[in-house]
Order: sequence, then structure tokens, then C-alpha cells
Amino acid sequence: MTDQAPAAYAGPKRILSGIQASGSLHLGNYLGALKRFVAVQNADTFVFVADLHAITVWQDPAQLAAQTREIAAAYLASGLDPKLATIFPQSAVPQHTELAWIFNCVARLGWLDRMTQFKEKSGKHKERSSVGLYTYPVLQAADILLYKATHVPVGEDQKQHLELTRDIAQKFNNDFNVPGFFPITEPVIEGPATRVMSLRDGAAKMSKSDPSDQSRINLLDDADAIASKIRKARTDPEPLPETLDGLAERPEAGNLVGVYAALADLTKAEVIAQFGGKGFGVFKPALADLAVQRLAPITAEMRRLMADPAEIDGVLKAGAEKARDIAAPVVAETRKLVGLLQL
Ligand code: TYM
Repeated sequence: MTDQAPAAYAGPKRILSGIQASGSLHLGNYLGALKRFVAVQNADTFVFVADLHAITVWQDPAQLAAQTREIAAAYLASGLDPKLATIFPQSAVPQHTELAWIFNCVARLGWLDRMTQFKEKSGKHKERSSVGLYTYPVLQAADILLYKATHVPVGEDQKQHLELTRDIAQKFNNDFNVPGFFPITEPVIEGPATRVMSLRDGAAKMSKSDPSDQSRINLLDDADAIASKIRKARTDPEPLPETLDGLAERPEAGNLVGVYAALADLTKAEVIAQFGGKGFGVFKPALADLAVQRLAPITAEMRRLMADPAEIDGVLKAGAEKARDIAAPVVAETRKLVGLLQL
């Protein structure tokens, strides 16, 4: 505790995010997260594979390493540059779990009880869910605050977890009387595709866990699969509207327009200006062509990298070393603030 502690966080702007190593990546992950990580990357960017979050639900041990490498391959194939961004598996930096324990003792049960993702994932069988699934958002707060990250680009479904991260930072800073020790992180949820919806149901999020493979475009799908899934995507019979307001009650149409906009680096309004009045017979093939054009090179590079695990492991190992160098002093200082013995 120091009288001179700054009231506001005075550290550098630092961008951080992660993706869980569970199941295959889809277009929602790409547009809501990956593509945006690439757009904002700078020399102070941390992007990790959340393998510890993945094991909050059963993962086949024989598959987990491959799933971890698949996410790393997607990072690299999408354009993250390991010379700029620090890319690593969460579990290779033991300070994530150490800080998570301290935060488990800061976060309140009532806060976690409100987490909608736990409710969705545990469903009717709450008592049979792992304890890890329940405290999952606390580990996420540790992932972020361990690096004193100030900006976290994510899709809309992570908003509540980021609010919890802010609450934990605030409470820690208050409890230990260290204003500004942990930053009050800004969620960065921007662009036309922060919530990509299922291709089969405009009311459901595109998700790794949807039993229907037709509901999502996987990053490893080939061109034929992409085109066929878009052709069969559920829509209404009307042509696209002439104005954005006309999408308000049309979730499926709105979703496809958002996907087109994100892939083409346009706004939804610009897409409507181009396709307003045209039917899906015109729009869907244009979207399929664009999706294939943008995704095929990423898929090809992912496949090349996944065939060479040594290259991926080299990047992850170097990233983990760099991450540990940043994480270790933060945890050491946190331990001191909490009063844990320094031996
Ligand atoms: P995960 O693995 O579920 O998703 C990874 C990223 O993809 C985004 N996303 C979507 N965006 C748009 N439309 C969709 N349909 C869609 N589905 C997923 C997510 O919002 C996310 O940005 N708990 C996190 C991983 C995590 C993390 C962190 C993220 C662990 N620690 C620290 C940021 C900071 C998760 O399970 O994401």
C-alpha cells in the first residue's frame, strides 16, 4: 500500500484476447475475434489459446493438444505476426491459475450466479457441471489482468465476462487499497459481426457446440461446403431491403448482411446500398464467392501449419517464455499485496 499510488491505471495500452481450445473454429470466431485481433495487433498484443478453459467440460486428452495447435494455426494463418503478437497456450504460464485462485477469493458468489454462459452451458444439470465451469469467468479475469491488459477484443457473448473482470479489478484495488494497480479493462466489441448467428436459425448464435454442422461455416470447410451451406442458409422470401431499418425484423437476412459486411470490410449500410432490392438468388452466390475468396487462403495455411506441429510449437514456446516474463512480476507483486509469505 502506498500513498502515492495513482488513482487511475497509468500503464501502457495492452491488447489481449483468447480462444478456447474446444471443437473446431467457425466463421463467428473468425469475424467476431480472429480477424479483429489481426486488425489491432501491435507490439504489445497477447493472444493465447485457452486450453484450461477448454477442460471445464470433458475434452479427450488425445485430442486436446491437436485442438490447441489448431487454434494457434488459425492465429498464424489469419495474419497474427509472432514478431508482434505474443502467442501462447494459457496452461504454459502457471501464473494464470495462481492469480485465478486469488481472484476466486475476491469475486463474490452472487456475481458468478449471474453469469448467463454458465446457465446456458450447464443447462438442467447444474449439479453435475464441473466446479471449473462455474469459476470459468474468474480464470478469464486472471488471463486478462495478469498482463494488465487494457483492451480486450471479443464477440458480444463475452461482454458479461468482461464486466466481471472489471468488477474483480475494482474490488481487488479497493480491498488492498491500491488504486490503479489492476486496470479497468475496456471490452472492444465492434463491427458488423460481433454476434454471428446460426445459418439455420437467426435467433441462435453460431456456435461450436451446435449439433448441426449446417449451422456454421468451419474454418476448415472446403469451398464446396462453404458454398452449399450459404446456399441452404435459412432466409425469408423477400428481397433485401433498400435501407438498414428494413432489416430490423429479419434476423436471418440481417445476419447474412453482417457477415458480408465483415468479410468485405464494409458497413452493413454499404452492403445494403449495393444489394438493396436484390433477392437471395443474387446475394447468396455473391456472399459464397466472397466467403470462399477470404477463407480459402486461411484454410490452406492452417492445413499446412497443422501438418507441421514443430513450427507451431516453436511459436507457442517462444510466446510462453515472453508471457511468463511479463506475468511473473505481476503475480509476485499481487502475492505481496495479499500478504502471502515471500520466501
Ligand atoms: P470462445 O472460444 O467461445 O470464442 C472465441 C471468440 O470468438 C467470439 N465468438 C463469436 N463472435 C461472433 N459471433 C459468434 N457467433 C461468436 N462465437 C464466438 C467470442 O466472443 C470470443 O471473442 N472465454 C472465452 C475465451 C477466453 C478469453 C479470455 C477471451 C478465455 N480467457 C480472456 C478474452 C480474454 C471463450 O470461450 O471464447
